[in-house]
Amino acid sequence: MNFLVTGGAGYIGSVVATRLLEEGHGVTVLDDLSTGHFDAVPEGASFVESKVHDAGAALAGRHFDGVVHLAASSLVAESIADPEKYHANNVVGTRLLLDALRDIGVGRLVFSSTAAVYGEPETVPIDEDAPTRPVNPYGASKLAVDQMLAEEAQAGELGAVSLRYFNVAGAYAGRGERHSPESHLVPIALEAAIGLRQGLAIYGQDYPTPDGTCVRDYIHVADLADAHLVALDVIRPGHHRVYNLGNGAGFSVREVLAAVEEVTGVELEVDLAGRRPGDPAVLVASAERARRELGWEPTRPALEQMIGDAWQVLRERAGRS
Ligand code: UFG
Repeated sequence: MNFLVTGGAGYIGSVVATRLLEEGHGVTVLDDLSTGHFDAVPEGASFVESKVHDAGAALAGRHFDGVVHLAASSLVAESIADPEKYHANNVVGTRLLLDALRDIGVGRLVFSSTAAVYGEPETVPIDEDAPTRPVNPYGASKLAVDQMLAEEAQAGELGAVSLRYFNVAGAYAGRGERHSPESHLVPIALEAAIGLRQGLAIYGQDYPTPDGTCVRDYIHVADLADAHLVALDVIRPGHHRVYNLGNGAGFSVREVLAAVEEVTGVELEVDLAGRRPGDPAVLVASAERARRELGWEPTRPALEQMIGDAWQVLRERAGRS
């Protein structure tokens, strides 16, 4: 089949595009390269440089069997400082993309949503029926799109799935995390280990968790990408379904850093800093619905494998191996 991947030059999107190609599908990547990298677009994919806002003109006359929509602004701190950007890029951009897709007759969409829609959870693990109370504009923008998709599906022919990612880590087929600036724990710790930055900070040691640092549910980017492939298969016209994607196991910041030291053999220089605004203490997924309904099963649940795969790609990029 023939699929469109918006944001396919980004970290997760490039792995989704790679996995689709490996399964024998045709892939077109649409990306404005504002944060993505052209060299991450896999060989064999067609590339269209465009904002999702301009997808109508960029995709006129093309045919796709489905779309994976990952193009978005995705920095929590930036969203607090510049909420308008998140509304414009994530909400308005998706609205315009949906219009363009309707015009070219595409009715099947997988959307990249986030655990940030749940805000500070009342109970963990978090299932899809948990209250959605985002605590930052990034989470609010993704929730607005989830709701938009549900309404569109109910009103017509669109079939959609929202995949709510927990903390994505690891690398696949030479594609690892490369944000600028980087804000995520695993790549920051690995950059410190390889000497690209001087140590790192632990944000907050007084959370109500066993060691006082935040607990997160880490999922390998290849397992995450595979969920998109199975989701494309189960979408039904007129229906919208939400799935949480995580491993169901929580690791504290200190545990992640210990695993990074173990994998890299480097002792990290750590600064104890205050809490980072907007960080919930514990985010752990219940991905039971995805297991039950999609038959999706993570095959790389070990933190060490995620860190090891990301470490290998970073070393290659830095010319160390
Ligand atoms: N952390 C540090 N030091 C750092 C970077 C991160 O201590 O240098 C801590 C954070 O405070 C947090 C944990 O490591 O407690 C994980 O932080 P990340 O930035 O790696 O990931 P987040 O949990 O903040 O972000 C993820 C997704 C977001 C999503 C968010 C929902 O990447 O897209 O979960 O809260 F919005």
